[in-house]
Amino acid sequence: MSAPTSTPPTAKRLGPAPDPATLDPAERMGVDELRALQLERLQWTLRHAYENVPHYRRAFDAHGVHPDDCRSLEDLARFPTTSKADLRENYPFGMFAVPKEQVRRVHASSGTTGKPTVVGYTERDIATWSGVMARSIRAAGGRAGDTLHNAYGYGLFTGGLGAHYGAEALGCTVVPVSGGMTPRQVQLIGDFEPRIIMVTPSYMLAVVDEFERQGIDPRSSSLQIGIFGAEPWTEQMRQEMEDRLDIDAVDVYGLSEVMGPGISQECVETKDGLHVWEDHFYPEVVDPTTVAPLAEGEEGELLLTSLTKQALPIIRYRTRDLTRLLPGTARPGMRRMQKVTGRTDDMIILRGVNLFPTQIEEVVLRTPGLSPHFALELSTRGRMDHLVVSVEARPDCPPERRAVAAQEVQVRVKETVGTSVEVLVVDPATLARSMGRLQRLTDRRERA
Ligand code: DLL
Repeated sequence: MSAPTSTPPTAKRLGPAPDPATLDPAERMGVDELRALQLERLQWTLRHAYENVPHYRRAFDAHGVHPDDCRSLEDLARFPTTSKADLRENYPFGMFAVPKEQVRRVHASSGTTGKPTVVGYTERDIATWSGVMARSIRAAGGRAGDTLHNAYGYGLFTGGLGAHYGAEALGCTVVPVSGGMTPRQVQLIGDFEPRIIMVTPSYMLAVVDEFERQGIDPRSSSLQIGIFGAEPWTEQMRQEMEDRLDIDAVDVYGLSEVMGPGISQECVETKDGLHVWEDHFYPEVVDPTTVAPLAEGEEGELLLTSLTKQALPIIRYRTRDLTRLLPGTARPGMRRMQKVTGRTDDMIILRGVNLFPTQIEEVVLRTPGLSPHFALELSTRGRMDHLVVSVEARPDCPPERRAVAAQEVQVRVKETVGTSVEVLVVDPATLARSMGRLQRLTDRRERA
């Protein structure tokens, strides 16, 4: 019998490294120089937060720490962490550290209840954000003069405007398409011939399918670079997108509470995890239960501290994202974070939009005729995430009311969370229970 033949792994497709002369000075710094800059900026941030945000003053005092206690970067571990709940309790502007007149823009993302998490930016913060986002696009292989098709959603979500300002700062021509209307995305890519696309990875696959539906070979498009983020994606998905589109696919990470997209970025010449732009964001990885710091290379929850933000300094923010820190490669001074592998909480990322089961619960509870018993089932339909919300009717709910109630939940979820879901109203006591408890969430999505 002959030994089973295995296909050799295909060599990783890599892009050219940028001309070092085009890099920002911080991207060329050695570790020692960068650490010194970080300490100086961290000390400023801690003082700025303590002096201007009542929440931080209370939290530091309760923890028995003062900004003067930070004499080295290791001292940051003595300071309290910040969570989404802290932003929610200070809704809407209580975490801002500058007078409202200095806030040029706000964005917001889902909170764990109906209230969104509001974040703000001064003029300088927007310049910083544009700068790191421009750096990210350049690390992906973009350069001045490129046309960039931006299909991240515009609005309160940080993806659209974050990518947009970064692309303009780099000197690109931006096509601000936003999400949706897939056939038009294909048409615009054909007509405007962008070299770069920025979009969630799941929506990219839907756009590729649309190319094929229209009988156009996606590999023949002008696209050469895809910058994908806002939701987790795998190496297999990279392979599929690179093969089907003949592009370099790289990962961009960020979250609104810390800035938006552009906190870390994969470099096209290595594609080996995301370099954290450490001159502006300080990463730590901790045990999600004890919050004890973990050594480089160990997997845990990512905490991020802003180093230069004026409007919303953020100290040791609990991202709930699971990853590990690794030494720098393409930018030797800056550590990498491995692709995010999952989250420590129950936040669902549905087509790039963040959603908590408690948000669905609020809507269900407000809808006459429905019981509080509901279950969520996630699946993949036509390459996109699909969420079915099944809710048990109350025993006294007239049959004709059910369809109306389902419609009401669908409309309210769209209004509050901003995403479409399918709603089914089912008979009382029919949803699966184990030990008397509902199985709240089933995730059958293909993570190809
Ligand atoms: O998703 C910002 C963003 C926009 C990043 C466009 C990249 C591209 P939020 O809506 O606040 O911000 O959601 C943040 O999304 O905590 C992660 O769980 C997840 N996430 C973001 N980027 C990635 C990624 C934007 N590259 C939350 N891989 C984060 C895995 C990601 N998860």
